[in-house]
Parts: sequence; C-alpha cells; structure tokens
Amino acid sequence: MSKVSAGSIIFSVAKRFLLPWHFWKVLSLQRNRKKTERVFDDAQLKLYAQLLPGGFLHYGYFDNPSIEPMEISINDVYRAQTRYAELLLTKLPAGTGLRILDIGCGTGAMAKMLLDMGHHPTALTPDKTQAHHIRSTYSNIPILECKFEDLNGDAYAQAFDVVITSESLQYLKQSIALPLIDKILKPGGKWIACDYFRIQEAHEKSGHFFSEFQKNLAGAGMYIRFQQDITPNILPTIAYVHSFANRIGLPLLSFGIDKLQTKAPGIHYALQDLIPFVQQKIDKNLLTVNPDVFARQKQYLLMEIQRIK
Ligand SMILES: C[S@@+](CC[C@H](N)C(=O)[O-])C[C@H]1O[C@@H](n2cnc3c(N)ncnc32)[C@H](O)[C@@H]1O
Repeated sequence: MSKVSAGSIIFSVAKRFLLPWHFWKVLSLQRNRKKTERVFDDAQLKLYAQLLPGGFLHYGYFDNPSIEPMEISINDVYRAQTRYAELLLTKLPAGTGLRILDIGCGTGAMAKMLLDMGHHPTALTPDKTQAHHIRSTYSNIPILECKFEDLNGDAYAQAFDVVITSESLQYLKQSIALPLIDKILKPGGKWIACDYFRIQEAHEKSGHFFSEFQKNLAGAGMYIRFQQDITPNILPTIAYVHSFANRIGLPLLSFGIDKLQTKAPGIHYALQDLIPFVQQKIDKNLLTVNPDVFARQKQYLLMEIQRIK
C-alpha cells in the first residue's frame, strides 16, 4: 500500500469543504442526518450485539455482586446476561402455552428461551437489523416490526397472558405505552419489567424517573406487586466496562495521539483543537459507565406489574 502523505489527507478533507458540490453534499448529509430515527436502526445496539454474541443487549445479573472488575472475563458477562433472563423467567405464571409479548426483544434470545419452555412468544422491535436477524434465525417466532407505541391496540386487545420489557421500558413513551400494555394484557395478565430508573437528577438522561413512573402506572390502573432492587448485581458489568476503558481504551487513545504527533505532525497540528473535545466526550461517556455514579443516580429494578382490579 502506498504511503499516505499528510498533505494529501489535508487536501482531501479541505476539498470536501471548499468545492461547491462536495460542500453541498456535506450540508445535505448533515441536514438529513435525523431522518432515519435512531430507534429503527440503532448503531449502538448493533455494536453491543456484535460485542456480546450471547444474543442479549442488557446489563446482565451477577450472582456475586462483589466480584472485582479485573477478575471478570467476557464469558462471565455472557453468563450474567443469561442469568438475568433466567431470573425474569422465574416470574412467569406456572404452566406452559402462555401467550407472551417481548417488547423491545433485541436479537430474540429471550423469545427463543420462551419458545423452548413451551410458550408462544411474539417478539417486537422497531429495529430493522434485529428484526432481520430474528426472521432469519428463529423463523417460527412471530415478529412485529414497529415501535410498541405504534402497535394497533384494537388488533391485540387482551391477546397476551404476559408482557415482558427487558431493559426496553426506558425507551417507551409512557403516556402511550402504559395504557397500551393494559389493553393488550388478558384479564389477570402480568407485566414483567426489568430496567433502570433515575432516582435523582442524573448527568445523562436514560431511564425514566421512578417517582414519575409510579404515578403514571397508577394513572393507567396498574401497580407493582413485586419489586427487587438488582442494582448491586448489574454493577459488575458497568464496572467491567469502566475498568476496560480506563486500563486499555485511554492508554490506546493517548498512544494514538502521541504516534500522530511524531509520525504526522501536520495532521496532529490540524486536529489539535479537536482533541480536547474528543477527550471531553470520552470523559462524559466514562461517567456513564462509572459504577459509583450509576449507583448514586439510578436504580435497577425487577418488577411484576398487574392491574389494580
Ligand atoms: C437495551 S435493548 C434490550 C434488548 C432485549 N430486551 C434484551 O434484554 O437483551 C432495548 C430494546 O428496545 C428496543 N426499542 C427501542 N425503542 C423501542 C420502542 N419505542 N418500542 C419497542 N422497542 C423499542 C430496541 O430496539 C432494543 O431491542
């Protein structure tokens, strides 16, 4: 491969801003960037699915919450993810042949477990990659490819014995989703929900506020009949990512920047003002996977939810 000179790289980048056709393309790509809503093609979840081939996209459940991050292997994370799914399944009503909707089903691993237990799962996801994966891997699992909020409630009124939201409740618009869950559940039906909530103002916005959720639930005629705080059991996964990023990610980044400075000082000079922004963004992301910050601001709950009457 021929050596790429700093001059040719700078020229190539500059051309895209200075030549009218290229500049128009830059502008129109930027302007249209939101047109595919993230929920239909979520690159972050796609990345997790590749990194975690066990088929789950949640944080997992560690039986031993005091395990040190340095002692955790990626196989432990896979096992913890399966364990999390098994824990949710212990909340199913007895018997087989239940009609179960897995809302935000990810790549379908939970639906497959339900099928193997003799139930009738339906998987729902708005994400086209996940839907394609499920269709091609589990052809006998019916799939609804839409946002849950867009599901036709009349067509599925009282259709399900159980609804599961496994780390997907946080993505749902409560004002639409809660009455819709109520509508599609059979009388006496159960909603098994497992997710994290904000218990105070947090530096990043994922997770509903728990106090609001409780109010909205009551407004939709439902209540939490069982609740287990599993925060300590999910923290090892966060601690693992945090430690990996600090021990390997940050030194690699700084190595890359040093290398750039010595091997391509011109490019390093051109990007110099950008480097602090990248570092700021990384620091913000590191806060998200800081287990102490998470435990202070959020709570991860496993719940069984039912109608009030
Ligand atoms: C963190 S993943 C969890 C996946 C899976 N339940 C699991 O436990 O591995 C969140 C899931 O919710 C889905 N999702 C996001 N917004 C949604 C919406 N509005 N309606 C239904 N599912 C949604 C995502 O596509 C993804 O499948």
